[in-house]
Amino acid sequence: MASLSLALFTYRFKKDPSVKKSLKIFVKTYGCQMNERDSEMISSQLQCAGHELTDNEKIADVVILNTCSVREQAEIKALGKAGYLVRRKRTNPNFKIGIVGCMAENLGEKLFKLNGAIDFVIGPKRLHELADVLEDHRRSLYIGDPKKQHLPNDFDRKLEKNKCTAFLSIMHGCNMRCSYCVVPRTRGNEQYRPMEDIVEEAKFLAANGIREITLLGQIVNNYGGRLMPMLDDKTPFVQLLERLDRLPGIERIRYMSPHPQNFSDDLILAHKNLSKLCPSVHLPIQSGSNRILAAMKRPYTSEKILTIVEKLRRAVPNVGISTDIIVGYPGETEEDFKETVSLFDTAKFNMAFIFKYSPREGTKSAELIDDVEESEKERRNQILLQRVQEASLRYHQRFLGKTVEVLVEGHARRGADTMFGWTPNHCKVLFKASENDIGKNFPIQIDSSTTTILWGTMAGNAQGRDLLQR
Ligand code: 5AD
Ligand code: SF4
Repeated sequence: MASLSLALFTYRFKKDPSVKKSLKIFVKTYGCQMNERDSEMISSQLQCAGHELTDNEKIADVVILNTCSVREQAEIKALGKAGYLVRRKRTNPNFKIGIVGCMAENLGEKLFKLNGAIDFVIGPKRLHELADVLEDHRRSLYIGDPKKQHLPNDFDRKLEKNKCTAFLSIMHGCNMRCSYCVVPRTRGNEQYRPMEDIVEEAKFLAANGIREITLLGQIVNNYGGRLMPMLDDKTPFVQLLERLDRLPGIERIRYMSPHPQNFSDDLILAHKNLSKLCPSVHLPIQSGSNRILAAMKRPYTSEKILTIVEKLRRAVPNVGISTDIIVGYPGETEEDFKETVSLFDTAKFNMAFIFKYSPREGTKSAELIDDVEESEKERRNQILLQRVQEASLRYHQRFLGKTVEVLVEGHARRGADTMFGWTPNHCKVLFKASENDIGKNFPIQIDSSTTTILWGTMAGNAQGRDLLQR
């Protein structure tokens, strides 16, 4: 994670005068966007409590690993890192190691047995207690339901300098019980933030230079659930999108991730009608075999996916649609796998993340025999990866010679004058520009493409419009 010590702006920022010792803290993030957002929150919280964040792990008094549990590999990586940090403790007994996030919730006390040097373990639902935990010199385990009724998202918020995009969590947890997934266990049931709070936070973001917001939720289109009413046949999620679409300063709205089950017509219509809602959808399908979908407890069929995709394309012709797929779920036959490949091809997804199935303790599918050999999972993975590359390249090629809108986000690490940004349909574009252009929107002509990147030049003598003035 980039430095947050340069943070410029604060949201309801108050320094706590009771802090005795200021610590240098390094936060390392594993996993998904939720975790990235949680790391931002804990970083703001720690700064508000008088501590200092550092980018340099070697000089930190405390290293906090914000971990992921979705696949075994993610846990192995974080445990390896914690094992490496133990050596520091031998030379500096005051050095602290903290494990927070999903693996903390999932493994709990076991973590202290696996690594005797760990000082604190805090699950995602109790991250708001982190600053207090640092004051405590005993070994601390904070998992389960929080004592304080306080959504972790209600923290003060700080923003980095020169940032024009931000994540905005609108809910926490998940009510689904997909057979393979550990998330409901680590993050609990759905809890929705009040719509007013979300709109207020978006206004704060806009006032501080943020032009693009990405709404986050485990199933973002479930926002409001049955607790908030439908209005004019619109779901609470679409009501929220409409309110955010009207906010001056916010120019782009994205969301991650929706569930196919509730991908309703009002959301498709919103893509057509709301000018700031980006033509880009990440729609996790997991499998193209109806038999495997039923086994996974995913309540939809491949036919339903095709209907959603077709409606979306009719509403927004160039819409980018990406997905998540798991290969090698217990009992997945060659025939099932072929159905997944066929759905990927027919739906014309332009990007996908492919995951090899990994049994997670405590989930329903962990009770099944993990009967697809690792080599077979890898073969299926490679076949799909090849398809994904071809599809990405094909999608990118449709923009060759065309002029696209790009929001300049930052340096591209290809020389000081090369900047990067994204198109509304979520293609990454590299082009010559300067740091002063960050946060501005430019028409860029696309000259060439690879599977992952579009290369372009500023079209004509465009000066770049500051989106605030639009
Ligand atoms: N094994 C492999 N992939 C998984 N995912 C979730 N749980 C597992 C698991 N046990 C994938 C799903 C999900 C993404 C975030 O991670 O595809 O959409
Ligand atoms: Fe996990 Fe399924 Fe919830 Fe997604 S919808 S977080 S895969 S249980």
